Amino acid sequence: MPSFTVFKGSKDGSIHESKTEKPELHGDQVFLKITASGLCGTDLHYRNQDMVLGHEGVGVVESTGPECKYLKKGDRVGWGYEHDSCGHCRECLTGNETYCPERAMYAMADLDQGSFGTGAVWREAFLFRIPDGLSDEAAAPLQCGGATVFNALHTYRTDPTETVGIMGVGGLGHLAIQFAAKMGCRVVVLSGSDRKKDEAMKLGAHEFIAMKGAKELKVSRPLDRLLVTTSAKPDWNLIAPIMASRATIHPLSVDEGNFEFPYMPMILNGINVQGSVVAARAVHFRMLEFAAQHKIEPIIEKFPMTVKGITDAMEKLNSGDMRYRAVLVPQ
Ligand SMILES: NC(=O)c1ccc[n+]([C@@H]2O[C@H](COP(=O)([O-])OP(=O)(O)OC[C@H]3O[C@@H](n4cnc5c(N)ncnc54)[C@H](OP(=O)(O)O)[C@@H]3O)[C@@H](O)[C@H]2O)c1
Ligand SMILES: [Zn+2]
Ligand SMILES: [Zn+2]
Repeated sequence: MPSFTVFKGSKDGSIHESKTEKPELHGDQVFLKITASGLCGTDLHYRNQDMVLGHEGVGVVESTGPECKYLKKGDRVGWGYEHDSCGHCRECLTGNETYCPERAMYAMADLDQGSFGTGAVWREAFLFRIPDGLSDEAAAPLQCGGATVFNALHTYRTDPTETVGIMGVGGLGHLAIQFAAKMGCRVVVLSGSDRKKDEAMKLGAHEFIAMKGAKELKVSRPLDRLLVTTSAKPDWNLIAPIMASRATIHPLSVDEGNFEFPYMPMILNGINVQGSVVAARAVHFRMLEFAAQHKIEPIIEKFPMTVKGITDAMEKLNSGDMRYRAVLVPQ
């Protein structure tokens, strides 16, 4: 019976080590040993919950259930936010299983395991083989952060002639700059301050705007698309005037409250607001291949997969000093 160490959140936000034991593998279940995990901004939202944290996992297959078809012991695989779906609803049948009404997602299902730990048991159908060109540590942050920004760009058909804005240079944002640049777009970065300018330009940005204290923003060309990857909702009054007509805005930040956008500018300029969540499996596979081919990798800071390592990484992320994704590595 698989058993492994896990790291959980708690009411007061402190991290706790615990053990999870699973029954014998059945169906297409895979038991894997975790080798690396990214720390996503969304994990900060759940550190006060009594649940195992982490959803940017990479590991090596230890053993497989009786109905596994293609994975075998020793294979390197990743997984992200979604662990299961019904397989027969309209969303599942059209390859949009991230919107399945019975989807099993992080913080909603399987609370006894995540990617902060030494092992996990997941369905083969929701695991992704890691291409040879990507290390475990580089591949981990792609499982949620990379998948989320690639999904917004790819699923909603970004064209290489577009000017794409990326707001927020964090875990998601620094990957989004690379994906959009490699897709051939002109990339405009909007960041809180100018502290990240040099790195953003090296990652492929063509223009960089520091927003601190600005009453209005100035871009050399209006944005055809904007990915908002800040950790809180932005001031949409600043954003509306820099959008091109018929532009698309992808709000990706997880936040509370309502979406309030200047109403007439949206109507008169035909602006489209398109929410989205991680990536369906077909898109996730493509993202990994695209990243391996174009050498798109996160800039990482490594921490040990221990109570202290997780606590330190979360504090650094929360303080705004992470450059740009923490990766936890079991000792
Ligand atoms: N929709 C989805 O499927 C999905 C998937 C994953 C994550 N998310 C959400 O996406 C957001 C970004 O995640 P992440 O992992 O990239 O987080 P992150 O690494 O913390 O990056 C967020 C960035 O937002 C900016 N920022 C920091 N504090 C801010 C504040 N108080 N107000 C506005 N901006 C602030 C900073 O960029 P600058 O220094 O450049 O300003 C920071 O680097 C989070 O809300 C996360 O929960 C959504
Ligand atoms: Zn995430
Ligand atoms: Zn379904």
